[in-house]
Amino acid sequence: METNFFPLTQRRLRTGSQIRELTASVKLSYKSFIQPLFVDEAIDSPRKIDGLNGVEADTIDSLLYRIEQDARNGVNKFLLFPVPARKKESDFDFSFAQKALTRIKQSFGNDVWIAADVCLCSYTTHGHCGILNEDHSRLLNSRSVEVLSHYAATLANAGADCIAPSDMMDGRIGAIRSKLDALGFEEVSIMSYAAKFSSQFYGPFRDACHSSPNTNGLQNRKTYQVSPFNSNDAIASALRDEREGADILMVKPATLYTDIISRLNQQTLKPIAAYHVSGEYAGVEALAEKGLLDREAAHIEVWASLQRSGADIIISYASRHAKDWINNVVI
Ligand code: PBG
Repeated sequence: METNFFPLTQRRLRTGSQIRELTASVKLSYKSFIQPLFVDEAIDSPRKIDGLNGVEADTIDSLLYRIEQDARNGVNKFLLFPVPARKKESDFDFSFAQKALTRIKQSFGNDVWIAADVCLCSYTTHGHCGILNEDHSRLLNSRSVEVLSHYAATLANAGADCIAPSDMMDGRIGAIRSKLDALGFEEVSIMSYAAKFSSQFYGPFRDACHSSPNTNGLQNRKTYQVSPFNSNDAIASALRDEREGADILMVKPATLYTDIISRLNQQTLKPIAAYHVSGEYAGVEALAEKGLLDREAAHIEVWASLQRSGADIIISYASRHAKDWINNVVI
């Protein structure tokens, strides 16, 4: 017999998958997941997105087919990113987004819950999330908020269940909430991109939406997105959005900012959504392709980390696999 110099203290609860399952403090459910969708006016068949395996930009018709497939796999909550064919500096045409939403709601009604992204970055020639002044050196906050509120109302009118403003202008949540209420859309909720950082990890997304800043004026989003070096600003922005009427507060990117999720969770009673963004997702996928990690297990580990930090809702490009993967995982 082995002499027991070191009695087991923690390892007894790790001895097999059943006891690990029983004692887990995090239990994932596919019901907490939102699947992002891209719909592009300029294409006539689905387009692959570099870095985002298993995700494509759709036409309206292929989008309806994709939602039907997803619904079969237990996904009924979506975040929609419309990409218009024509980009402008102002007087944007929101009719394609409106049409996409209308078609989704005509086909699926309340079987699906649709949050519509509200931002101008895929609408503007310069790729910024709001309207710029003439020489592109500054972002015009008030004019941008007016246009964004109008866009939000258009989307609510087309049937969006939730408005998800990702532009990061000041005052937009209050403006959008008043506009929605005034028009009778009191039940349309707002999921605010509340703590959205100025991050490198949006690369594949910007490719998908053709929305990288491209002007000799403002060359990045640092004057409106939160600095990765400033956690107080992230918390203040989120709490401000809560006061202005946001129903759900989002932290984005997710895995690099679990400290923010955890801190915000201590300061709000609102549900917190964590967005595992395109670059974070693409990183996991790239390692998996090289055989350096197990794809499913890695995504599940990411999701567990988000829930552990205090996220109630997870936005992942792999949400459409959540039910299957969570069901089969051996922890
Ligand atoms: C638009 C927007 C971005 C994302 C969601 N909405 C990109 C950005 O701010 O440049 C990123 C999502 C992702 O990377 O998955 N403002």
